[in-house]
Amino acid sequence: MFQINENYLKLKAGYLFPEIGRRVAAFSDAHPDAQIIKLGIGDVTEPLPAAVVAGMHAAVDELASRDSFHGYGPEQGYAFLRDPIAEQDYQARGVNVSADEIFVSDGSKCDTGNILDILGANNSIAITDPVYPVYVDTNVMAGHTGEADDAGRYDKLVYLPVTADNNFVAELPTSPVDIIYLCYPNNPTGTVATKETLQKWVDYAREHGSLIMFDAAYEAFVSDPSLPRSIYEVDGARECAIEFRSFSKNIGFTGVRCAFTVVPKDLKATASCGTEVSLHQLWNRRQSTKFNGASYVVQKGAAAAYTPEGRAQMKSLIDFYMTNAKLLREGLEAVGITVYGGEHAPYVWLQTPDGMGSWDFFDRLLDKGHLVGTPGSGFGAAGEGYFRLSAFNSRENVETAIERFKSVVS
Ligand code: MLT
Repeated sequence: MFQINENYLKLKAGYLFPEIGRRVAAFSDAHPDAQIIKLGIGDVTEPLPAAVVAGMHAAVDELASRDSFHGYGPEQGYAFLRDPIAEQDYQARGVNVSADEIFVSDGSKCDTGNILDILGANNSIAITDPVYPVYVDTNVMAGHTGEADDAGRYDKLVYLPVTADNNFVAELPTSPVDIIYLCYPNNPTGTVATKETLQKWVDYAREHGSLIMFDAAYEAFVSDPSLPRSIYEVDGARECAIEFRSFSKNIGFTGVRCAFTVVPKDLKATASCGTEVSLHQLWNRRQSTKFNGASYVVQKGAAAAYTPEGRAQMKSLIDFYMTNAKLLREGLEAVGITVYGGEHAPYVWLQTPDGMGSWDFFDRLLDKGHLVGTPGSGFGAAGEGYFRLSAFNSRENVETAIERFKSVVS
């Protein structure tokens, strides 16, 4: 009889967003006329930038002709995309990342899970709480944790609470950890880290021989030039950090799928036999074996976002969503809700009114306002009493949602 990966049996309920989807579908079935507005999952709503569309159209035309047809591409991504990423996202900002340290992929969610392939099974792992659930669940699936307790906290994971009490800045772990997941601008709290905060983590990682998994999927939403957009803006990060970036939110690729991961050549580990090993080489080996590269058409679309027109259109898209975030913040504050985030990130993180539980507030918003958000406790036990609203929606829906929100809470 074959065996299954029993680590999957340790996973709590469903993955958060399908779970919300199930609850919303049940409500919808019972109330077919309800006009539900979804500010739950951070899924984009606006069409692709015109330059990106033109880039993809041209790529399809190339594939339609024998003379310009392409089959398999490089597993690491085409130079026409890796070069402008290195130049514009890093080197132009004074950050030392070269094109051959960039691995283009079909998504950061996949990359943050797949990276575990090149890491050992006995690392102690720290995550902030609340946190993007993928970091936790992929480690559970890989057998890196024990069972979960009643609050949903897995044995062997080190949870670092980030709440209003510590201004959403995690304390350094009190016992040494091998791997640390950081996400800034943060999903779900929408808060940001200063360079000093990141430096503290990098110094910790170098002192303890730890690896930082830095998720920068929302870096494009940072508008304050003094805030870091990459972990590599911090001294020493090339020796201890992997960075994940995504085209999902900045150019609307949640459905198109394209992202990249930076694995610096300075990042080394020591194997149990004492040999020094390059993580860059391990990840290259993993990707060349298990991945055939992101689609040519998609990479052409992403590359078009680095042209002057593409840059300008991307900026308008980001400004549009950040205006939504500002409207949400202001609308909520106007009815006395305490709000965090939403200034350099497309997520607004609010304290539930009257100390309501996160899922109770979810039910109340859905029932009374036909609004969907994400319960803070779905991101971790320390998210209890908080609630996330996504700024990814049409202006009309955001404005209607604010009015409905006001009538539910006042
Ligand atoms: C979220 O809502 O947290 C994101 O959309 C999830 C993701 O990017 O996978």
